[in-house]
Amino acid sequence: MNKFVVGVLVGICLPLLAAYAFVMMGGMPVATKGKPLPLEHFLASKAIHKAMGREVERPSPVPADEINLLAGAKVYRANCAVCHGQPARPAVISPIAKGMFPEPPLLVGPEKGVTNNSTGESFWKVKNGIRLTGMPGYSDSLSETEMWQASLIVAKAHELPASVVKLLDEPLPSAK
Ligand code: HEC
Repeated sequence: MNKFVVGVLVGICLPLLAAYAFVMMGGMPVATKGKPLPLEHFLASKAIHKAMGREVERPSPVPADEINLLAGAKVYRANCAVCHGQPARPAVISPIAKGMFPEPPLLVGPEKGVTNNSTGESFWKVKNGIRLTGMPGYSDSLSETEMWQASLIVAKAHELPASVVKLLDEPLPSAK
C-alpha cells in the first residue's frame, strides 16, 4: 500500500473511531436538557428541507374559509395546543412542552410562528412528523382533510377570524 492510500484510510477511520469513542464515553447529549451538538441545528434544517423537496409547494386542497378554520381549531386544540400553545396564553407552557428538546415553537401566539412558511410545508411536517424532535407524524391518526385544516391554522395564524381565535383560546384540560 502506498502512503496515499494509508493516509486516506487513516483519515476515514480516525474520525469514525473518535465519534465511536465519544458515544461510548457517554459524551452524546441524549437528555432533553443537553446542549445541541455543533452543527446539529444546521444539519437538521438542511436535511428536512432536502427531504421535503417540492412537496412544500403543494397548495391546500382545503380552502381557508371559516368553516375549515373552525374545524382546524378543533383539531389543533385536541392534537397540537399541548405543545404549540394557544393565542392568548403564550406564557402558559405545558409541562409536556417545557420538558422537550427541541422546545416546540409557539405557533399561534403573537410571534410569527410558521406564517412565513407555505401551508404545504406545515402539512408535510404534520403528516410525516420530524424525527428525533418530538413532533409527531399524524398520518395514522388524522384524515388528510384534518391535517390540512390544522396546517391552515398555523400557516394563517396571523389572520384568523375572531371566532377561530376564540375557539383556540378555550381552556384545555390541564395536565396537572
Ligand atoms: C408532543 C409535542 C408536539 C405536538 C403534540 C405537536 N408538535 Fe409540532 N412540533 C413539536 C416540536 C418539538 C417541534 C420542533 C421541531 C424542530 O425543531 O425541528 C414541532 C414543529 C412543528 C412545526 C414546524 C415548525 C417550524 O419552525 O418549522 C409545525 C408546522 C408543527 N410542529 C405543527 C404541528 C401541528 C399542526 C400539530 C398538531 C396536529 C403539532 N405540531 C403537534 C412538537 C409537537
